[in-house]
Amino acid sequence: MNAATTLVIFGVTGDLASRLLLPALGQLLVTEPDRHVRLIGAGMQDWSDKDLDKVVRTSFESSDAAACIERVEATYRKADITQTADLKKLLSGLDGQVALYFAVPPNVAAAACEALTADMLPDGAMLALEKPFGTNEDSARTLNARLAELVPEEQVFRVDHFLGKSTTLNLLGARFANRVLEPLWSAESIESVTIVYDERLGLEGRAGYYDHAGALVDMIQSHLLQVLAVVAMEQPATLDELDFREATSAVLRATRIKDGDATLSSQRARYTAGSVDGVEKPSYTDEPGVDPKRGTETLAEATFEVRNARWAGVPFILRSGKALSDPAREIVVRFKGVRHIPVGLRGSAAGAVLRFSLAPDQMSLELNLNGADDPFVLERATLSADLGAGQLLAYAEVLSGILDADPMLSVRGDAAEQCWRIVQPVLDAWSNDEVPLDEYAAGSHGPERWPFQR
Ligand code: BG6
Repeated sequence: MNAATTLVIFGVTGDLASRLLLPALGQLLVTEPDRHVRLIGAGMQDWSDKDLDKVVRTSFESSDAAACIERVEATYRKADITQTADLKKLLSGLDGQVALYFAVPPNVAAAACEALTADMLPDGAMLALEKPFGTNEDSARTLNARLAELVPEEQVFRVDHFLGKSTTLNLLGARFANRVLEPLWSAESIESVTIVYDERLGLEGRAGYYDHAGALVDMIQSHLLQVLAVVAMEQPATLDELDFREATSAVLRATRIKDGDATLSSQRARYTAGSVDGVEKPSYTDEPGVDPKRGTETLAEATFEVRNARWAGVPFILRSGKALSDPAREIVVRFKGVRHIPVGLRGSAAGAVLRFSLAPDQMSLELNLNGADDPFVLERATLSADLGAGQLLAYAEVLSGILDADPMLSVRGDAAEQCWRIVQPVLDAWSNDEVPLDEYAAGSHGPERWPFQR
């Protein structure tokens, strides 16, 4: 699209805008030389246009996009977006392609959606909302119903930047464009799938949000279930939003905690003091703003099953944690071993392992080959490929969809509700203390008693 698009960022003074959205916008402008953007930043602070301009400049510099600053016309408006009058003033007179990005906490976004009315919105306006979308299945459904009163579903963008990560998108090519993989992609040949996103980062001053969310809601309920949906979906006929999102939604509808038993199929833990790569971390419970009584986990693991003909019996293990050393961030597909090995061939013939690393973007395949020393003894060999970081940051990929009005990479309303349904038994088991809250030292690989296979 060449004409100027209007991007209204609610909460432009916040961390999300300066750290992720604006750098992503800069990168998008670098790759799309014809794009011009009218940026309206709204917030509660007494900022001027100049203050916003400074933030845009710094953000653009951080993504090597300083040269594109001329293609953004930025204005700042002070507004309380939970007030109808402020919203009306902010949105009046906007025309052309308009996107409203709610870079604000979920309760503020929900209140703003209540304050909005359909007649305030320019025709075709896109609404982009950050995760978490609601706080449970019911509240997600209520928010969906409210959004449906404002704009059609195709104009709602429930942002999940993991859908814009290049490795997540690489899964499509690997799965669907290779005859050596496509027919094997089922319980017939696959033993298990692990999707793990561990991080060195600790709380990073986000107690206000994180202490209420915890690792399960922060990462598994949203990002990792979306990745699971891409790994496990049926092949869509096209990659347009209808086919793609129906395929991912269908998988989520078939997904539940393994054996319906959250007590046996989930684990949780939180970090105690330690050092991550030489950086000292206090115990999670000593971090400013944390209420230890909430029992918030900083490491969560849960095993799910996809109850359909393709996947029955295959465990999908999802895990994510903070303050861990040597963190794995990958999708690991473990294949079954062969049925028979010729007598005379010695050594282990464990199933092949296909790994997609989410950061850095790499892919590898472990196979059994004849050994170099003794050709009758099997050895493990790893074929690997560097996939490159992708042209666009995950947020830029997502933003490009929003500005182009293509919701393929945004979470459809029913999928957002399903993701809450899927994790609810785990949340219930944890709040009833049916699963112990383990501990691990910051900088370790997690609790010692957790068997975790890399
Ligand atoms: C965010 C979570 O959505 O994703 C963070 O709130 C997490 O806790 C982050 O650190 C991980 O994604 P990325 O792409 O920044 O590594």
